[in-house]
Amino acid sequence: MVLARRAFTVVQDEHLQHLTGRTLAAETVAAVRSVIGERTPVALHEPSFRGREWQYLKECLDSGWVSTAGEQIKAFEKSLLEITGARHAIAVVNGTAALHLSLVAAGVGRDDEVIVPALTFVATANAVAYCGAIPHFADSEERTLGLAPQALRQYLRDTTQSGPGGTRNRATGRRIRAMVPMHTFGHPADLDGLRDVAEEFGLVLIEDAAEALGSRYQGRHVGRHGLLSTLSFNGNKIVTTGGGGAILCNDDGVAKRVRHLGTTARLARGWSFDHDEIGYNYRMPNLNAALGRAQLEKLPEFIAAKRALAQRYAHAFSAVRGIKFVREPAGTESIYWLNAVLLEPEFAAQRDAILETTNRLGIETRPVWTLMHRLAAFRDCPRMELPVAESIEARLINLPSSAFLASAHA
Ligand SMILES: Cc1ncc(COP(=O)(O)O)c(C=O)c1O
Repeated sequence: MVLARRAFTVVQDEHLQHLTGRTLAAETVAAVRSVIGERTPVALHEPSFRGREWQYLKECLDSGWVSTAGEQIKAFEKSLLEITGARHAIAVVNGTAALHLSLVAAGVGRDDEVIVPALTFVATANAVAYCGAIPHFADSEERTLGLAPQALRQYLRDTTQSGPGGTRNRATGRRIRAMVPMHTFGHPADLDGLRDVAEEFGLVLIEDAAEALGSRYQGRHVGRHGLLSTLSFNGNKIVTTGGGGAILCNDDGVAKRVRHLGTTARLARGWSFDHDEIGYNYRMPNLNAALGRAQLEKLPEFIAAKRALAQRYAHAFSAVRGIKFVREPAGTESIYWLNAVLLEPEFAAQRDAILETTNRLGIETRPVWTLMHRLAAFRDCPRMELPVAESIEARLINLPSSAFLASAHA
């Protein structure tokens, strides 16, 4: 009897999987195609160069200034200030270097711990490790896909002790120095909540806004809650410089230090080459800034197109049972850098079938990053329970999100 029931359950499961698997994968393909049309292959995210890129690149070459100084860098940084409302913007070679430099400037050093989401791109954790510090992984919330302030607060209250030297992890005895929330796929994390937690435990707040240039939290550009925040201009971002990044900062002294450290800590004394500490050669080349300057001029267009694309995906997936389109959190305006859907928990087992089918048909989709605590390099790092991040990891799929797709099938 027991055996018979088990056999029946297996058959039923297989039947269900066959049906729902085929249906969900097919429905996903149909929903995506209803938004982006029949064209294939279609990549997850492609850049678009339809502005003054050639003009600024030519100006750059004609000037002879192609390296780490020049007018294009100044213009690029000025545009970043206008867009973000930050007081200082320092262009660097990539978003990872921006994170590293920010952590160093914030005073993160050897054997410090830094709170980072387990659900992030590896650069966030790598940059902490570059400082000789240890990433300490925290859970996310499904509403924002970013760090969960309430759960983090309770965890820190339960596991740390405060003293004159700051907050210490009771289990390791190490100081917890900073927190680096990340705005996943452009959706702003709960910045007010996280700032409160940072203040309660005396942590420096650094926003990893690599994916969120143009996103707003309660009307203001992200990157304004922390002491420092970082951007990436990698080829897959909403705006690209080929490779590049930037640091935003509102504190004059800290910004000065960031510039100094990122310019090999060279002292500005005429022709002499003096350096007062170990610095980094992280300045963005003028050539890359030329490309980025033209791209920034197109940012409003890119944002409008990407938000329109997201609207269409939201509409298309509203009719698909078992799949939920990930919308911007209330009180925010996201650039929807990467569109994402979440499978309802009972359909999580269909994720790979959907990934397999869409990619086989030339529609590039992908799962979210493997969580940081599963990576060999970070397996032994401290962490809280991560139920939400683990659930998101099992259920999330990113969809093609290039800005120009919005007009591909209008
Ligand atoms: C969340 C996050 N942080 C950091 C980075 C690092 O940026 P980069 O690739 O420019 O080094 C990226 C993107 O690549 C990212 O998505």
